[in-house]
Amino acid sequence: MLLLALESSCDETAAAVVRDGRTVLSSIVASQIDIHAEYGGVVPEIASRQHLEAVSLVVEQALQEAGVAITDIEGIAVTQGPGLAGALLVGISAAKGLSLGRRIPLVGVNHIEGHLLAVFLERPVEFPFIALAVSGGHSHLYRVDGIGRYKTLGQTVDDAAGEAFDKVAKLIGLPYPGGVAIDRLAAGGDPRAIKFPRPLLHDGTFNFSFSGLKTAVLTHVGKHPEAKEQGINDLAASFQAAVCEVLTKKTAAAIAETGIKRLVVAGGVACNSGLRRSMAEYAEANGVELSIPSPKLCADNAAMIAVPGDFYLGAGYQSGFDLDALPVWPL
Ligand code: KG4
Ligand code: ZN
Repeated sequence: MLLLALESSCDETAAAVVRDGRTVLSSIVASQIDIHAEYGGVVPEIASRQHLEAVSLVVEQALQEAGVAITDIEGIAVTQGPGLAGALLVGISAAKGLSLGRRIPLVGVNHIEGHLLAVFLERPVEFPFIALAVSGGHSHLYRVDGIGRYKTLGQTVDDAAGEAFDKVAKLIGLPYPGGVAIDRLAAGGDPRAIKFPRPLLHDGTFNFSFSGLKTAVLTHVGKHPEAKEQGINDLAASFQAAVCEVLTKKTAAAIAETGIKRLVVAGGVACNSGLRRSMAEYAEANGVELSIPSPKLCADNAAMIAVPGDFYLGAGYQSGFDLDALPVWPL
């Protein structure tokens, strides 16, 4: 099936044309990051307005780059949630308009499900697998038994991993979004320089907690102001090491308990070079088959929305025109 997919849950307006939920013919992402950076984070009202300006253009560009016309499109998949209500509604309205005007079947998709399945656009992975979804809004461990069959093993009890990166970056004076800035600084620092806590590492659950780590960074820079200046590389490296160790060890514990030796790491934080490295080392040492999509498929994009979209439409499931945004939507 030739699908057009739309994504507008946060600060990226994206459209993609994907064949059979596996082959990306085009994937266009219009980022609003520069606009939100001025405010130190995503401003929901501005996000909605920017999506509105960009949505028709990204759809047109996606069709053009794929070399197809809207009349060739056999299905439309759109992010229904979770995300910012106003932002989601822009993508949903555009998708409904196209679906109604051209009589193309429409399906609403969970954004996190898109992240988990993005890997299929690059390589097949057998079920079941363990999946770690780490983004600006999520830090979840799942057991995935098939498309649509997810069991939550653990999740953050406070901040998401990406949120922790962004908040720590802000408090040490780095621009939004902070994850990538910390990643870059960490490359030139010593991860053992500062011993930050490893929250919940030995609590026997698969849950995460990152807000205490953020406080630990705040306390450290309060006592050692130079850590924000010449010591910033060590600070970034030490913070990143703490996050990556907890994410990797909790994931390892889930694999040990379930005996499922296939792992997918997904979401914006899966772009982090420290996390990619620590997961690769763990997988190599333990005979675990690790799949992490390339960075452009880890960050928000519309192609990933086409993977579950194609599956659900193919299974005969369609959304009606009462399709509404679901700002909170656990998988
Ligand atoms: O999946 P995503 O693009 O959007 C959401 O669904 O939230 O994830 C965005 C998050 C942001 O918090 C951003 O700082 C983080 O992913 N991120 C990173 C890196 N690149 C993006 N965090 C750490 N290291 C990176 N290289
Ligand atoms: Zn995302």
